[in-house]
Amino acid sequence: MPERTQVGIVGCGPAGLFLAHLLHRAGIEAVILENRTREAVEGTIRAGVLEHWVTELMRELGLGERMAREGHFHSGITLQYGLNRFHLDMEGLTGGKRVTVYAQHEVLHDLIAGRLADGGTIHFGVSGTAFHDVESDAPRISFRHADGRADELLCDYVIGADGFHGPARQAIPAAMRREYTKTYPFGWLGILARAPISWPELIYARHEDGFALLSTRSPQIQRMYIQCDPKDDIANWPDERIWSALHRRLETAGGTEGAWRLAEGTIFQKGIIPLRSFVCETMRHGRLFLAGDAAHIVPPTGAKGLNLAVADVLILSRALEDAIRHNRTDGLDAYPATALRRIWKAERFSWMMTTMLHRNDAETPFEHRIRMADLDFLASSRNAQAALAENYVGLPFES
Ligand code: PHB
Repeated sequence: MPERTQVGIVGCGPAGLFLAHLLHRAGIEAVILENRTREAVEGTIRAGVLEHWVTELMRELGLGERMAREGHFHSGITLQYGLNRFHLDMEGLTGGKRVTVYAQHEVLHDLIAGRLADGGTIHFGVSGTAFHDVESDAPRISFRHADGRADELLCDYVIGADGFHGPARQAIPAAMRREYTKTYPFGWLGILARAPISWPELIYARHEDGFALLSTRSPQIQRMYIQCDPKDDIANWPDERIWSALHRRLETAGGTEGAWRLAEGTIFQKGIIPLRSFVCETMRHGRLFLAGDAAHIVPPTGAKGLNLAVADVLILSRALEDAIRHNRTDGLDAYPATALRRIWKAERFSWMMTTMLHRNDAETPFEHRIRMADLDFLASSRNAQAALAENYVGLPFES
């Protein structure tokens, strides 16, 4: 017998899990299908910054206990360029909002545990996931369980929260999809190192060698990134080369050369990711709805990816609740337009942070000077800082 549920969700990332929790709170059943194993989902290193309201939402959902203990609450960030270093006081500029540095895989760990404790179903390790009859009132998802058994999930609505490479977006006919892409000529080399905290907040640095970011995971584990060629091979980056690049880019900016030293440690994870911006505006096809990376990608410079995924499903959960419990579908009809207003603002912010902070040899000397003027303006204008802070801590929701 095929399984039946109200909302079938493909993807056990931030979008799928937050949606399942929000629907459960509204008394609506959902089942999640995930092609990776639980260990792989909980072990994949991704983003780390939660906007103010996401932290509040975790608390409201009863999922904030470990985050309150182990997360780091940051009230500002440090920006560096040339010889300049300045502190951007987010809390002061936004009337008291902060961000939380708490790794995405820790968020997923807490959400999965909460879902299972609530009696929710997550099928891990499935394969061959395919959407069917999404234009009808009875959409279905076919898949194979981890043990190879073929099965089907019969639903009222189906959600593609399956990431950029998942099958959901492809289930919308290509001719109907409106998509926008920008690829950047650089990538990020990210490391995790067992090392002490070097600086009390995140540092975003523009250096003539390229961008660098200092972040953290815990008092013992630090996360750092350097701009690199997206096609570079990680084998070209032995640990000494990474440390030397981090020292140069983080210490020489700031005008404090010699005064402040980045603490080194043991690198235990490293990898290169490309930077890209992408939006698929066709976020709905019949009873299939896209959320999170399935519909949009941002470069990590603005720390918006996870937050945007959660914003999508907050909007979508309210619309599904109206449709399923109150027979009103106007919220679902408006979902793409409502979500896209927020998505494009996050795309704009992430693109702006990326272009302002990276070295780009494809730019003209004129454009280069404009970037430096952007940073000079930001360093000296409270209004410019307030605009950055407002975006960084998370824009308000439309009521
Ligand atoms: C991270 O800690 O992984 C991180 C922090 C800030 C960003 C991107 C990534 O903008």
